[in-house]
Amino acid sequence: MKMNTLFYSLLLLSCLAMGLSNRVYVHPFYLFSHENISCEAIESKDPEPLQTIHPLTPIQDNIQPDPRTGTSPEGLKNLTQRTAVLAELQNSLGLRMYKTLSPKEEKGNLLLSPYNAYGVLVTLYLGASKKTSGSFQQLLGLNRDSERTDCVYLIDGHKVLRTLQGINSQRDGPQNELRTQVWSFVNSEADLSKDFVTGIQDFSDASFVRAVDFSQPEVAKAQVNNFIQKTSDSKVQNLLTDINQRTNLLFASSVHFKGNWRTAFQPKETSLQDFRVNETSTVKVPLMTHTGDYMYLNDSSMKCSVIKLNLSKRTYMLLVLPHEGAKLQDIESKLQTGVISTWINHLKERYLDLSLPKFSLTAVVDLRSVLSDMDVEKYLFDSETSFERLSSKANFTVEKVYNKVLFEMSEEGSEVQSTPLDERVPLKVTVNRPFFFAVAEVNSRAILMLGKIRNPSV
Ligand SMILES: *[C@@H]1O[C@H](CO)[C@@H](O)[C@H](O)[C@H]1NC(C)=O
Ligand SMILES: *[C@@H]1O[C@H](CO)[C@@H](O)[C@H](O)[C@H]1NC(C)=O
Ligand SMILES: *[C@@H]1O[C@H](CO)[C@@H](O)[C@H](O)[C@H]1NC(C)=O
Ligand SMILES: *[C@@H]1O[C@H](CO)[C@@H](O)[C@H](O)[C@H]1NC(C)=O
Ligand SMILES: *[C@@H]1O[C@H](CO)[C@@H](O)[C@H](O)[C@H]1NC(C)=O
Ligand SMILES: *[C@@H]1O[C@H](CO)[C@@H](O)[C@H](O)[C@H]1NC(C)=O
Repeated sequence: MKMNTLFYSLLLLSCLAMGLSNRVYVHPFYLFSHENISCEAIESKDPEPLQTIHPLTPIQDNIQPDPRTGTSPEGLKNLTQRTAVLAELQNSLGLRMYKTLSPKEEKGNLLLSPYNAYGVLVTLYLGASKKTSGSFQQLLGLNRDSERTDCVYLIDGHKVLRTLQGINSQRDGPQNELRTQVWSFVNSEADLSKDFVTGIQDFSDASFVRAVDFSQPEVAKAQVNNFIQKTSDSKVQNLLTDINQRTNLLFASSVHFKGNWRTAFQPKETSLQDFRVNETSTVKVPLMTHTGDYMYLNDSSMKCSVIKLNLSKRTYMLLVLPHEGAKLQDIESKLQTGVISTWINHLKERYLDLSLPKFSLTAVVDLRSVLSDMDVEKYLFDSETSFERLSSKANFTVEKVYNKVLFEMSEEGSEVQSTPLDERVPLKVTVNRPFFFAVAEVNSRAILMLGKIRNPSV
């Protein structure tokens, strides 16, 4: 009898554990390592010389995206397991970045893309020296601990990038909603690693690698900004504000999410209402209203309401609205991947009369500056850092790493269907004070966009 109880509680425990993760735990390192796992000596030179491309297409020659030779994500085994594990890692890093950026945006709105930031870091990882790679892996959550300090266990960055691309391009995936472009501007005296260029293609939907003469920085700046503007349908303008003539690499990416309020929300009516910007001020903004069934949670310990909105078959938005009188900062400071999964797991269907401001947002994230505020820049981009696998040019450096993030919600589309009369009394939820939101992919729960709105009218 005793044995039986023990057996059943063990069974129950393991079922619970399985239910939480749906799979046996595998350390992320092993999902993304090379077939042959060995600790590679930090000081050893690669047996093969670096394969590079030179000369690169000059910036003035061609504005067409680079021809693509990359592999498709379908080629990966265990993609579902990998995407789930990677989603957890990129979300965790994204939340850390969010918590770093948010206090600096006390008054304004904030937007970043954990998905894109993670991809950018992994792409740069491909060019890092072995020593620097170890630091990158630690930040990415893909390190394997080792007692030795003279060697490092490396992952296969391409596997990571193709898995990220897999999150985006699965069948019926959000590829129509999410588009990633990458620009690399390289000093015309330098060559560029083939492996890095392949990595850019693994990760992006379109990419541009161009050589630039940086000897006249003002001319170069205008060239680069014009190029990005032309190749982004003017979505990305004046990205660079300063360039110096010793620049080796400018690395910029944009991630563009396109959704539609009519699909997401089916607003019955829109009216101008007060939105409280801070303790003392309100602004008038259009609030959309819809009464219907939503997945909803009142988290009384975190003092917030959580509402899930389907944006499409494959993406949803979590809206997190602090209770009246509760502070957004207090909730943010407790944000962790575990908190978000707990919310998702406890959402219940609820009949709501929901009012919500319309918003679209864009932002530029200077990744080096965020990392520096997170106190990790010093081991990713300092004088000790080496990107020796990016180029055979001596002391090759990465000057700028910018992410442009666009969250664009249109309103075009079909007329709203009238809803049948409903006898139930809805719970009224009005999003009329600062809140934050996450847009995620359904299967992997990878956070594509993360932001807060303090003032929807700016
Ligand atoms: C893996 O290791 C084995 C034995 O050490 C070696 O024969 C094989 O060539 C290695 N494969 C790769 C892809 O490095
Ligand atoms: C996934 O990987 C595990 C080993 O980590 C393997 O046993 C399993 O068969 C793989 N599953 C699929 C569907 O490839
Ligand atoms: C509140 O917001 C208004 C409008 O944006 C601004 O003028 C005012 O200084 C803010 N007050 C505080 C206490 O931040
Ligand atoms: C949430 O629940 C608490 C009690 O647990 C209640 O006092 C509060 O009114 C609820 N808030 C909302 C917005 O439903
Ligand atoms: C939202 O999407 C999920 C599946 O992606 C579906 O099960 C659910 O019914 C949808 N909810 C609403 C309110 O449409
Ligand atoms: C590269 O950096 C090292 C150490 O900082 C310096 O001694 C060397 O002169 C530099 N080489 C070039 C080509 O700039």
